Amino acid sequence: MQNFTQYAPTEIIFGKETECRAGAEVKKWGGTRVFLVYGGGSAVRSGLLKRVETSLEQEGISWYEFGGVKPNPRLSFAREGVKKALEEKADFILAVGGGSAIDTAKAIAHGVANPEADLWDIWTKKVPLKKSTPAGCVLTISAAGSETSDSAVLTNEELGKKAGINTDFNRLKFAIMNPELTYTLPRYQLACGIVDIMMHTLERYFIPGPSNEMTDEIAEGLLRTVIRNGRKAMKNQEDYDAMSEIMWCGSLSHNNLTELGRGKDFSVHKLGHALGARYDAAHGATLSAVWGAWADYVYENDLARFQHYGKAVWGIEEEDTGKAARQAIDRTVDYFRELGMPVNLKELLDTPVTEEDIQALAKDATMNGTVKLSRIKELGEEDVRRIFEAARER
Ligand code: NZQ
Ligand code: ZN
Repeated sequence: MQNFTQYAPTEIIFGKETECRAGAEVKKWGGTRVFLVYGGGSAVRSGLLKRVETSLEQEGISWYEFGGVKPNPRLSFAREGVKKALEEKADFILAVGGGSAIDTAKAIAHGVANPEADLWDIWTKKVPLKKSTPAGCVLTISAAGSETSDSAVLTNEELGKKAGINTDFNRLKFAIMNPELTYTLPRYQLACGIVDIMMHTLERYFIPGPSNEMTDEIAEGLLRTVIRNGRKAMKNQEDYDAMSEIMWCGSLSHNNLTELGRGKDFSVHKLGHALGARYDAAHGATLSAVWGAWADYVYENDLARFQHYGKAVWGIEEEDTGKAARQAIDRTVDYFRELGMPVNLKELLDTPVTEEDIQALAKDATMNGTVKLSRIKELGEEDVRRIFEAARER
């Protein structure tokens, strides 16, 4: 077995009506003045925000509402949040929403604990992050896995760059997860979430070299579960058990459990972030649009791994390794189609993508050619350009 370190400290409170425990949870972790971060209004419309506030009130905790986080959350908005949270003397940051609200809350938590530092300097590691403010969440969408991850992603709109920071200071104190809260999701967002959960697992799966058997089994079981329940949920979004399985898969897909002894790749995410920053497209859709082209480009470097994946996840019994690997890629892309997700750039974007756009995307994804992507096959700027090119109409 390969060595590993596992650290997943976030307390999970899972089930119906758990949002009513938000106040007690904040109190338990020492919060007295909450900075409440949420998105464009879904939490207000559903009455969730009110329920969370009532539970804070019951514990004698004060709060300040900071709504308006947009998908692909902006650095400038997080900076504004830091300023406001400092004025309000907030001692606990609580997100109500999905990856965008949670990542903004994480950024605000870091900014409040380090008021002398600019957030982007923290993001680019110019200023090392050594402390943060306690933060938690009430999750409303199963997708990004930010509720348990060590990651937070922001878009710097001045530079046109979307980037994440990985640090254990991004680990939340608690995550409240009531699957019923996801019933109101737009179908497109539900599908985006299913893709993202698969991707967080696949980006830890296609890694060269030996892997731990238990880690593989967890990853494969997670993939089968999210695929099966994804189908059920797309038919009936109020299927509590299906929505529950997806939600739990989302958290386990990104708390590192499926990478133990192996590490991660996240090159498809780098391609997706370049698309997200340039076109403001939904995160999960940027991933389904390029995964097929990425897999086509790299799979021959590890046919056996793709064959193994095809058998374990899709039940492909083909004995010829090359054919089996191809079928595994096709089945995955077909599933994205079944979810109604884009599987190429033409389907993802309203605007035509020019040669110059492709070149610029390749530069963005590789930080001007300074970073190599992918573990299964090393990808420089020219490789990434070819992948984007192939993704145009795949
Ligand atoms: O803003 P509101 O009105 O809440 O609407 C949101 C938003 O429009 C809506 N929504 C969420 N819950 C809902 C709901 N609508 C109705 N009912 C509900 N229960 O869904 C839309 C998308 O929300 P968002 O928070 O953006 O979704 P998601 O969780 O997919 O987060 C995506 C962001 O997370 C980043 C992505 O790059 C992207 O910026 N990621 C963060 C990661 C992390 N921190 O670990 C890892 C991921 O790989 C990802 O990069
Ligand atoms: Zn993701």
